[in-house]
Amino acid sequence: FPHVNHEMFVENVSIADIAAQVATPFYCYSQTAIETNYTNYQQAFSEQDALICYAVKANSNQGVLATLAKMGSGADVVSMGEIRRAIAAGIPANKIVYSGVAKTAEEIHYALRQGILQFNVESEPELELISEVATALNITAAVAFRINPDVCAQTHAKISTGKAENKFGVPISKARIAYNRAAELPGIKVQGVDVHIGSQLTNLAPFEEAYQRIATLVTDLRADGHDISVIDVGGGLGITYQDEVLPSKQDYANIVKAQLNHLGCKIIIEPGRSLLGNAGVLVSSVVFVKQGEEREFLILDAGMNDLIRPSMYDAYHGIVAVSQKDKSLNTYDIVGPVCETGDTFAKSRQIHQSKAGDLVAIMSAGAYGSVMSSTYNTRMLAPEVMVKGEQFSVVRARPNYDDVINADTIPQWL
Ligand code: LLP
Repeated sequence: FPHVNHEMFVENVSIADIAAQVATPFYCYSQTAIETNYTNYQQAFSEQDALICYAVKANSNQGVLATLAKMGSGADVVSMGEIRRAIAAGIPANKIVYSGVAKTAEEIHYALRQGILQFNVESEPELELISEVATALNITAAVAFRINPDVCAQTHAKISTGKAENKFGVPISKARIAYNRAAELPGIKVQGVDVHIGSQLTNLAPFEEAYQRIATLVTDLRADGHDISVIDVGGGLGITYQDEVLPSKQDYANIVKAQLNHLGCKIIIEPGRSLLGNAGVLVSSVVFVKQGEEREFLILDAGMNDLIRPSMYDAYHGIVAVSQKDKSLNTYDIVGPVCETGDTFAKSRQIHQSKAGDLVAIMSAGAYGSVMSSTYNTRMLAPEVMVKGEQFSVVRARPNYDDVINADTIPQWL
């Protein structure tokens, strides 16, 4: 998203041109950036038998999924909806792994009928349910247990998943019992081990520790007679939102190789944020510049319903004036229109002096942006735009008010 002659571009398209046609707020993705991120993973893992299963939850737009499908990506999904989205965009079922702590019988049934690659099973009750549904369908379910290795991911508490107190996975101390139970059950084929310790990791040490524990477990499971041929190493690296210094994808791949290569397993990686995060921005207009008693506010037409990360995780997102021509810097509190104090994107932030109608881009919004948005305050979901070279395409249009209101019904007794 470079500035050329003080105007911000996405690839070769001016953001202001898109805004003029689509109106703000809107999400904007660079297809080339997504492809580059994917290729970087592919190259980093080229010496290993690895399948990239993009974590669909990060951004499930069909344009995004189709881009990754075309490059050969699989998918990590957590609901029937995500399976449907992945398949609709051309990701073959045999490249889909299914994670999630609360898969229902209906969802399991659907996944089995599609012929997915693997269930990442998070509990013994889930295993029993998969066995029941698979037996009834006369299909064998390929499973891995998601192992909770009890390591600290050193990330935000709300997105840390691999500590013993978290709801995710089977405790590593109980794993051998769980696998023995799985081996007894009809309709189940044990094939792998899965681990995911959290998101936005900026340090490789927690990965290293988790994979070391997983390697020991795989050796133990094999000694118990289980045929383990797949290791799913979970989500990918974090990204730079502000000034985080990230290890390279090659460094990450090297850790996986060093800890797990000797086991001869197929490796699955489930990156989400690191494929999409810095490939997308949320473009918004300044509605008012308001002089408060203590500070100056830039009030935007995008709010916490469009991008909830700042209010939910106190996340930092860069905010940049789209046009910087003849502008000096000024300090603002940058807020949205929603009736909550939490609807704040940034406090005391320096950006180029802006007036009503000017465009700003909220950076690093390609992952966990649009997918977490809502219609709170009956604000329409922001449209999504994909750019490739000189072209852009609206990959999800702004809904209209009638559709949104007519989705409700008034009870017949009123
Ligand atoms: N695999 C599993 C089982 C996951 O739960 C996740 C993310 C991923 C893969 C992808 O992780 P990534 O490569 O994106 O780090 N809404 C939060 C992030 C939640 C992440 C949930 N799980 C945020 O906005 O920061």
